[in-house]
Amino acid sequence: MKGVILAGGTGSRLYPLTRVTNKHLLPVGRYPMIYHPIMRLRRAGVTEIVLVTSPEHMGDVVNLLGSGSRLGVDLTYRVQDEPGGIAQALALCETFVGDDPFVVVLGDNVLGEDFDKDVIAFREQTAKGPGARVLLKEVRDPERYGVPEFENGRIVRVIEKPSDPPSSFSVIGIYFYDSSVFEHIRTLTPSQRGELEITDVSNAYADRGLLTHGTLTNWWGDAGTFEGLEEANSLARDLIYEEIGLGEGT
Ligand code: G1P
Repeated sequence: MKGVILAGGTGSRLYPLTRVTNKHLLPVGRYPMIYHPIMRLRRAGVTEIVLVTSPEHMGDVVNLLGSGSRLGVDLTYRVQDEPGGIAQALALCETFVGDDPFVVVLGDNVLGEDFDKDVIAFREQTAKGPGARVLLKEVRDPERYGVPEFENGRIVRVIEKPSDPPSSFSVIGIYFYDSSVFEHIRTLTPSQRGELEITDVSNAYADRGLLTHGTLTNWWGDAGTFEGLEEANSLARDLIYEEIGLGEGT
């Protein structure tokens, strides 16, 4: 299975920390933020990865990661010329992904556990037909995120940042799609915040009963805001990826 890491955007919620650097290069624990999604993908057996970022920061991102060989992955890059939303960034990966199901990770997601079992579950799901899968985490403040609404244990829709959340779960930034997702993205129109929303993409599957989910049991940090960055930093403080270690060679 191939992987997509979306690391674009302006990082405006973290100004002035992100005035001259990309959000995804800020420190989270012992590593630059972007190392975390890369290492979780690698641990799930996903080593062919495309990374999308903005033109302003592509140079720094490539300087840090290069071909990916130091981290045991094979990286390809795509430029998102203008920040137009997560779904717009995903659309840039169509030729890289090809016809196979794949996994998308938002670059500011920091996890305290692996998700290899979800890779296996999604392979099984898509062997039977089209589908998508999202990962969830129970949170205190669901109104900050995409929130699933359930009927009989199945997600019937995801609501983006609802004022009255239908559940206490957040759709975290890890999504599995089959390649028909690109057809759905072509039909989207920008939301009120002027972006093509990943939630609308997932709802194209939820509408047809094709959206499954997995639930994280360990901690999760969304490092895209000051509070989230601070939390992710403390949660990841002692996290060391043994495969790459720490220090000069990393
Ligand atoms: C995005 C998604 C949202 C999801 C969140 C997870 O929000 O739109 O559904 O819950 O990522 O990190 P954003 O960070 O763009 O506001």
